[in-house]
Amino acid sequence: MKLTLSVIKADIGSIGGHIAPSQALLEAVRRHVAEQGRDLLLDSYVSSTGDDIALLMTHTRGVRDEAVHRLAWDAFLAGTATAKEQGLYGAGQDLLKDAFSGNVHGLGPACAEMTFDERPGEPFLFFAADKTDPGAFNLPLYLAFADPMNTPGLILSPNMSAGFRFVIMDVNHTEGDRVIELNAPEELYDIAALLRDPERYVVEAIYSRATGEQAVAVATSRLHNIAGKYTGKDDPVMLVRTQMNFPATGEVLAPFALGHFVAGCMRGSHQMPLMPVPLGSGISYFDGPPIVTCAAFAEHGGKLTEAMDAFAHPFWDEVRHRVAVKARDMRAQGFFGAAMLPMSELEYTGITQKLARLDERFTVRGA
Ligand code: 13P
Ligand code: 13P
Ligand code: MG
Ligand code: MG
Repeated sequence: MKLTLSVIKADIGSIGGHIAPSQALLEAVRRHVAEQGRDLLLDSYVSSTGDDIALLMTHTRGVRDEAVHRLAWDAFLAGTATAKEQGLYGAGQDLLKDAFSGNVHGLGPACAEMTFDERPGEPFLFFAADKTDPGAFNLPLYLAFADPMNTPGLILSPNMSAGFRFVIMDVNHTEGDRVIELNAPEELYDIAALLRDPERYVVEAIYSRATGEQAVAVATSRLHNIAGKYTGKDDPVMLVRTQMNFPATGEVLAPFALGHFVAGCMRGSHQMPLMPVPLGSGISYFDGPPIVTCAAFAEHGGKLTEAMDAFAHPFWDEVRHRVAVKARDMRAQGFFGAAMLPMSELEYTGITQKLARLDERFTVRGA
């Protein structure tokens, strides 16, 4: 059976600033998807990570399907009405356009989808991150799919030794999708040279070179490229199929123990470590730290099992503790140097105006 997994997510309002959506908001979205998706979807799972709501949907209609995307858009509109009724902050925040047009790309919501021939056992992982952007997944994906130090399957499994094909997008290019395809392991240094710059080059998809099957789909939208101004960070979602010809689930999860520094956190303008947290977690310290959740599933004929919370295991308590320490260490240097993003990535225009004003007051001595 050819199955499509679609994740579409948006921030349509939250309690207490950018912390988490209300239960009523989640229920409104769930109700809409259950009622309107009855004839369209095989199954669905509606969840929140920080202040973002994600719709995971299974169906046989392929990627960028108008009806599936419209269902998600309308569910977010229905949710926005509830968010307004409750006075939630940022009601409809990520719905940047007034009207739906064909699919959600370019309208604000983030989207990760893939179509594949279902395997007899179909394990997959659904990641959602808040207070960061799609480049946050560059490092974990590089380690999981290209580095035998992380992934022994690259040495041990005959199905993985042909390596993986990375599709990488230049997200600064706004006139269309500018992408490059590179093969690991032969082009490892080229992949590394691009992925080191996660604000510009973002992994969009990864394929098995042994079979051509797709393993990974990442949402790559950049909200400020759509809106032309800061509207919120591009909190990303990602789907990863695991086992057999792909890395094992544990090999995909392992890199998240690093708590690597990512762009985001307060006002989308800082470098802070990424904390793996249980499903449904909200946001706290310094509008962060940036968080990532992982729901592990199996599915058959489009029917999802219950979600297993991959970061709820006690192992991750120590990781969270270490990330909290790293976060406070970085915060100790406030706005100086590496703590804040470079000018090109700052999400507020106030500082540009300030610097322009000061520029006029500079004098060149002796001139
Ligand atoms: P099992 O023997 O428990 O199926 O594990 C196999 C495996 O690949 C673990 O990474
Ligand atoms: P969100 O993008 O998650 O809404 O966060 C916005 C922000 O600026 C938090 O400080
Ligand atoms: Mg928000
Ligand atoms: Mg968010």
